[in-house]
Order: sequence, then structure tokens, then C-alpha cells
Amino acid sequence: MTLLGSTETRQRVDADILEIRGGRPLTGQVDVRGAKNLATKAMVASLLGETPSILRDVPDIRDVEVVRSLLEVHGVTVSAGEEPGSLVLDPARAKSANFEEIDAHAGSSRIPILFCGPLLHLLGQAFIPDLGGCRIGDRPIDFHLDALRKFGAIVDKQPSGIRLSAPDGLHGARIELPYPSVGATEQVLLTAVKARGVTELRNAAIEPEIMDLIGVLQKMGAIISYEPNRVIFIEGVEELRGYDHRSLFDRNEAVSWACAALVTDGEIFVKGARQYELLTFLNVFRKVGGDFDITDDGITFRRGKSPLKPVMVETDVHPGFMTDWQQPLIVALTQAEGTSVVHETVYENRLGFTHALNQMGADIVVHPNGIADPNRRVPRRALEQAAVINGPTPLHGADIVVPDLRGGYAYVIAALAAEGTSRVSGVKIIARGYEKFLDKLSALGADFDVVG
Ligand code: EPZ
Repeated sequence: MTLLGSTETRQRVDADILEIRGGRPLTGQVDVRGAKNLATKAMVASLLGETPSILRDVPDIRDVEVVRSLLEVHGVTVSAGEEPGSLVLDPARAKSANFEEIDAHAGSSRIPILFCGPLLHLLGQAFIPDLGGCRIGDRPIDFHLDALRKFGAIVDKQPSGIRLSAPDGLHGARIELPYPSVGATEQVLLTAVKARGVTELRNAAIEPEIMDLIGVLQKMGAIISYEPNRVIFIEGVEELRGYDHRSLFDRNEAVSWACAALVTDGEIFVKGARQYELLTFLNVFRKVGGDFDITDDGITFRRGKSPLKPVMVETDVHPGFMTDWQQPLIVALTQAEGTSVVHETVYENRLGFTHALNQMGADIVVHPNGIADPNRRVPRRALEQAAVINGPTPLHGADIVVPDLRGGYAYVIAALAAEGTSRVSGVKIIARGYEKFLDKLSALGADFDVVG
């Protein structure tokens, strides 16, 4: 296996194994583009329009490519817009696709499930293969299927996937989600906007990405009102037109780079990051001992003057501390002076990545049950777990394999902070959610080579 050290080879999109030499602070600027977890959904929404849509600030990541190819097999033409990083999506020739085509392109994404509503409106039928996505739990879709049945869809689960039909079209529904699921909320929004009559959605997710998707749909002509206490009303309309939308920034990527600055004792200007959508994270970042400067065009993150301090954090639905943020934060907490607790309440298996951190010298114990806290936004769930992190523990290089998207990123920053050399395999998965990841690492002064 040759050592591919020169910078131009770091563009290799199939780079999968990095040799990382730690101990150097990351300093410089990264540009964060549109949110992976909005752009992919807005692309699906283009199927609902009678005219072409323009999506701006689309990140150049695998998840976008997966959705682009799924749209194309359904006859949507997707082309580069005039503005760099924009896409034009034209559904004029949308059509059914066969199982093999859909299955070949669905890949490791969960987004295909969101095609149901738009395809049922457009074609009266849809086929969704078994879903992929990060291994952070069994990722069921029961909320989605229950909602689609309430809209009048006939859902037929088959060994290879799910076939849906709506011979009499779709009508409004009263839906209360058992849990404020982001995906299920998006499923309801993308289906209700053209259903006959009004839909009432209770216990909805209200993440900024959801509100941005509501903005996209309103631009298309939808009538959606966002009420207090997670209630959303959607009045179905006959026809929607294309949108022109610039996606909000990727909060998860911004948080990842903030934690990288904290862990490596560097300083990173995250261009495009905004305070409002990161309020909860910024409070925790400050409590841990991080420091930040907010300007109109971004946020500069650095470690503060004092040693890092332990914190107790509970992941939660918005406006709580997002589950996607806990993995890079835990790496930083290995360097805090004292005992921290991170309680994961959204997914049942999102702390597995801590095992490899312990191989690098961390002292993290995962407890299968979480911590009782009367001030919960959502009721406790049996799946919860808590990680207890004792620090500070110097990290040393190790050979590690990336488990999932956010865990993979966390491993890379752990390796960058560790003394010595680490070999991180499976980094290709990081390209699913972080645009030009290797370029950004290089630009920040990371010392690594692509070795496979
Ligand atoms: C979205 O996943 C994001 N992915 C996730 O980001 C994010 O962690 C998650 O929302 C929570 O914010 C995308 O948007 C593509 P959920 P989603 O439905 O929609 C349970 C990343 O790193 N549930 O809110 O799949 C589920 O098992 C990814 O970018 C059901 O039980 O998350 C989980 O415990 C990782 N039945 C909880 O709800 C269902 O039908 C939250 O899941 C649906 C969900």
C-alpha cells in the first residue's frame, strides 16, 4: 500500500485509511455550507413542485449524491445552478422507478423513506427499499408508516422493502407522534402539504432544520402554521411550485469543528456558523472552558485560558443539546479535569464509539441506563444510556475503525489530539456528512497522510 502524502492526492474521494500524527493544534478557517439534514430533505421536496426548484449552498457530500441519484431514477433532472454550490431540480418528467434502480442508489441513506408522500401525490404509488443510515440503534420507521396510513396510504411491507399505494389519493390526518422524531415530522410535512384537507401534527420535532424545511414548503405555496407546544397545522393545497432556497448552515459540522479547536487547543473560525441555532451548544462549550467570538459571518472557537472543566450534559430534542453533538464533545471531556456525564436519550446505541477512545487512554464507562431528571423535555425512554468520563487522561495513538458518521469525526479529532500516530480506518463514511473533510483538515494544519 503506497503512502499517498502529497496534498493533491488527499482529494481522493475514496480515501479510507488515514495515518494521523497528533499533538498539533488546529488553527485557521473552515467554511460550513448548507446543512446535510436540510439540503437532502429540500431536494426531496422538489418532487412536490410543478416547476423547477433552486437549492443553494448544497454541501458536496455523499448523502446529497444519494438523493440526487434517487431523484434522477425517478425522472427528475438535477443540474448545477449558476451559483457555485447550487442545484436546479426539475420534476417535469418525474416517473416511477423500478426496484433495482431504487435499491442500487438508496445506499447507506435513510432519506428514501421521505420520498413516500411526494411520490404518492405524484404517481399514486412508491417503493422504498430497506433503509441504511448510521448504526446508532435499530432506526425503526414505525412512526413514518403509521402516519402514511393515517393519510390514506396502503402500506405493504415486503421482504425487499415497502410498497405503498394511494388509489384514492391522500387526505389530511390528525397525527400525534409518540416521540418528536425529526424524520417522522418531515414525513408528515412532505405528505400533508398536498393532502386533501387539514393535517394536525402533535408532538412534532422543531429542530431548526425542520423550520427551514417549513420555509422551503411555504415558498412552494404550502400553508403551514407552527403553534406552541410542538403542534403544527398544515392546510393541504392543490398545487405547489418550485422554490429558490439557501439552506441554513450545518450545525453539526460547526459543532464538530468547535470541539476540534477545544481538543487540540487550537483556534478555528467557522465561517457561516450562526449563534441563534447553536445557543445550547455555546452554553456547554463555555461551561467546559471554551471561548468564542461571534461575528456576522461566523464564529471563532478556541480553548479558553483555564483547564477544561467537567460538565453534565443530557442529549435531547431541540432546543436541547443535540444527540449529534455528544460524540465530538466527549472527546474534549476526556481532557477535562474531573468527572463528566453525558446522558444519551435519543438513540439506544450511540456511545459505542467510546470503546476506541479508551484504547487511546481515555477513562470512559458507559452505563446502560441514563440518569433520572425531572426536568426532561420528553419522558424518559428505556433505551437511554450514560457515559461517565473521568479526566484528564492523555490520549495516545492507536489503530481504530470508524463506527458511524459523527463517531468517525470524533475519532479523527481524538487522533489529532493524541500523542503519537494513529491509523484511522473507514474514514470514507465521514465524507457522507462533511464536505471536503480532508482539505479542511489540511488547511487547519493537521499532520496526516492518506494510506489507503
Ligand atoms: C435525524 O435522524 C438526523 N438524520 C440524525 O442525524 C439526528 O441524529 C436525528 O434526526 C435526531 O436529531 C437526518 O436528518 C438524515 P429521529 P432521524 O427520527 O430522523 C426513534 C447525523 O449524524 N424513531 O428523530 O432518523 C429513533 O429510533 C444523523 O446527521 C422511532 O422509534 O431521527 C430514535 O430513537 C444521525 N420510530 C428517535 O426516534 C420512527 O419511526 C429519534 O429519531 C422514527 C424514529
